[in-house]
Amino acid sequence: MDNVALLRQVSIFQELPEAVLADLAGRCRPKIADAGSVIVSQEEPGDALFVIGQGRVKVVLYGETGREIILSILQVGDFFGEMSLLDRQPRSANVVAIDEAHLLSLDREAFQTHLTANPSTGLAILAEMSRRLRHADEVIGNLALLDVYARVARAIRDLAQKQGEPIEGGLLVRERPTQQEMAGLIGTSRETVSRALNDFTRRGLIEMNGKQILVRWGFLRNMDEAA
Ligand code: CMP
Repeated sequence: MDNVALLRQVSIFQELPEAVLADLAGRCRPKIADAGSVIVSQEEPGDALFVIGQGRVKVVLYGETGREIILSILQVGDFFGEMSLLDRQPRSANVVAIDEAHLLSLDREAFQTHLTANPSTGLAILAEMSRRLRHADEVIGNLALLDVYARVARAIRDLAQKQGEPIEGGLLVRERPTQQEMAGLIGTSRETVSRALNDFTRRGLIEMNGKQILVRWGFLRNMDEAA
């Protein structure tokens, strides 16, 4: 895929005319990150923003014992690294490739030139940052207010709503996060996630098959009613 086609997939650039995308594409540098490699390290200075053309990345913090807290999983069409560009502070988190990731990077100068000429990109970034802050608010609330089973249930519902394809019986997610990644997302252990998933499976609320998970309509209805 060429750089223009890749940038067209990125939500914050979707409204831009072809000529602007072509200009931006000329200023981007391609980068391939192997699965498991660190793309951005917390506390390091940051002078580039990245967009994802292929693969998934996780935004993570590490505790002193190496425990991993996943703040978000980003995929094709998402961007990261904007915070250090905007506030000139060190990177706020680590970003690690889950699969082989194909990225385009845009350095500070190119980013600023583009933003000055195209304020609509700035507004789109603000909208996405608001969405991320809302999500962070929800996670903070959930950590304080919900028990761990309810947190696993919400994580499954969010996954189904974001990535699920409607099929008979429910929403099918073809590539779910691992149990370890889900544990990192909701601040619990892998064993607890495993117990909750087994329990939901036994009650016929979800079906797991390899990397796939079918989230049954009944599960989603229950969650709506409980909300
Ligand atoms: P930056 O701080 O430059 O480097 C790490 C990046 O991770 C950050 O920019 C954001 O792009 C991204 N990031 C940090 N926190 C979150 C979050 N809570 N949700 C999604 N992405 C985040």
